[in-house]
Amino acid sequence: MDAAATTPTPVTPFSTVIRTASQQQHTEAENSSFMSDMLGGRLGITAYRRYTEQLWFVYRALESATGSLAEDPVAGPFIRPELARTPELERDLAHLGGAGWRDGLAPLPATAAYAARIAECARDWPAGYVAHHYTRYLGDLSGGQVIRGTAEKTWGFGHKGDGVRFYVFEGIANPAAFKRRYRELLDALPVDDLEKQRVVEECRRAFAYNTAVFQELERRFPRSA
Ligand code: HEM
Repeated sequence: MDAAATTPTPVTPFSTVIRTASQQQHTEAENSSFMSDMLGGRLGITAYRRYTEQLWFVYRALESATGSLAEDPVAGPFIRPELARTPELERDLAHLGGAGWRDGLAPLPATAAYAARIAECARDWPAGYVAHHYTRYLGDLSGGQVIRGTAEKTWGFGHKGDGVRFYVFEGIANPAAFKRRYRELLDALPVDDLEKQRVVEECRRAFAYNTAVFQELERRFPRSA
């Protein structure tokens, strides 16, 4: 018998599909002027503080939804208390801005749009929420570690101390193993192919939101300023 007729075509795991589909945008985000200036040590601590403030709005949107999504069959398995970043961001911001760090704090327009989209997915579309969850948390567990090292050197924060706690996952002893497990969850996402395609699109959208936030920060903190 013809072997091709009996051997099923290997299916690309969804974790590979979503990574490949967002690779180009990942490179764009990584190479955005704001990110490369920050990683090149060319920005002041105020730019870092403003960036951290924007992250706070994003993670508040991601994490204020975790209670209602914990039991959801699609998004629920991704929700893990050791990922929660809001308390860490609040410690970092208190370090950067003092006890009154929240006074008058407002999101940039791009951040407000990003947070609103996360909240909308969390409310109406758990699989879309997974796209946002993946884009931020898997990134934080990867490239986030590069940002932490640079921030410590550039602005003198203590090693894994106040100012960079956002990048420190105290509850995740083995990030590589955690990411492997996370990819297994993506591979087992209980939705059909069409829905997976929509999740990929939402992931691209999530990257675009991040790039838009960087662009707005870049306008406020050009390298020459
Ligand atoms: C300059 C900043 C950045 C650097 C240096 C960086 C670096 C990296 C590296 C080295 C990996 C691969 C880790 C691995 O294979 O385990 C990675 C993965 C990832 N990054 Fe970034 N990254 C940056 C910015 C971003 C941004 C802004 C986002 C989106 C908000 C992001 C989202 C992701 C995601 C989702 C992954 C996981 C890809 C996968 O394996 O499925 N990264 N990053």
